[in-house]
Amino acid sequence: MKRGIRLLLLSMIFSGLVAMAEDYSVKQVEKVGGKIAKKIQKTLKHKLKKAKKRGGLEAMAKYCAEESLKDIDAIRRKYGKELSVKRVSLRPRNPKNAPKKDEEKILEALDYLVKANAFLPKTIVQAHEDGSYKLYAPITLNSRTCKKCHGDRAAVDPKIVKYFASKYPDGKGYGYHTGDLRGAIVVAFPPPKEDE
Ligand code: HEC
Repeated sequence: MKRGIRLLLLSMIFSGLVAMAEDYSVKQVEKVGGKIAKKIQKTLKHKLKKAKKRGGLEAMAKYCAEESLKDIDAIRRKYGKELSVKRVSLRPRNPKNAPKKDEEKILEALDYLVKANAFLPKTIVQAHEDGSYKLYAPITLNSRTCKKCHGDRAAVDPKIVKYFASKYPDGKGYGYHTGDLRGAIVVAFPPPKEDE
């Protein structure tokens, strides 16, 4: 009997802890994920500006194609080795940025929101059954700079089109207009460890 009560108490405490850990997780996901997304946005903007000064559109294109993924990964490592961080799009220029099924659903939902003239949230958290989370930060086409590489192909500098064609034979990543959803930053958090 005594043992039964002790077990009951233990399991109550344990389930309480689990619930607390989950609450904490969502907050952490928002906090850490939000910071990472901000840092990525800031870094890419800054680096594009620097590349522009260095060598105009061609240097910018080279930065995006050859350096941006490395910069994103460096930010990931700084905030947590167990995290995965990437940019995704429904029409990715780089096939590496293709969304997984769960990510595709969020991108489609965000795209609907944009098309309904809604203001997008800065971030959205997606919960998975295994206790893991993904944080999304929507990316819209918000400047003329973006259009120089993601606008209608016919309007993009032919030298740049040629360069992208050599790197990305799929030819995606064009045809976006001001305000369109271009994609999202995704920060994936692993499920809680069982022994915690
Ligand atoms: C100088 C050309 C250039 C400019 C300017 C540019 N991009 Fe890109 N963008 C690229 C290239 C190249 C890639 C593929 C990078 C990679 O390999 O991940 C890319 C990839 C992306 C991706 C990831 C999905 C995909 O298509 O692979 C997003 C999202 C994105 N760009 C958004 C933007 C936004 C928003 C702006 C404006 C603030 C912008 N880009 C400006 C060249 C550019």
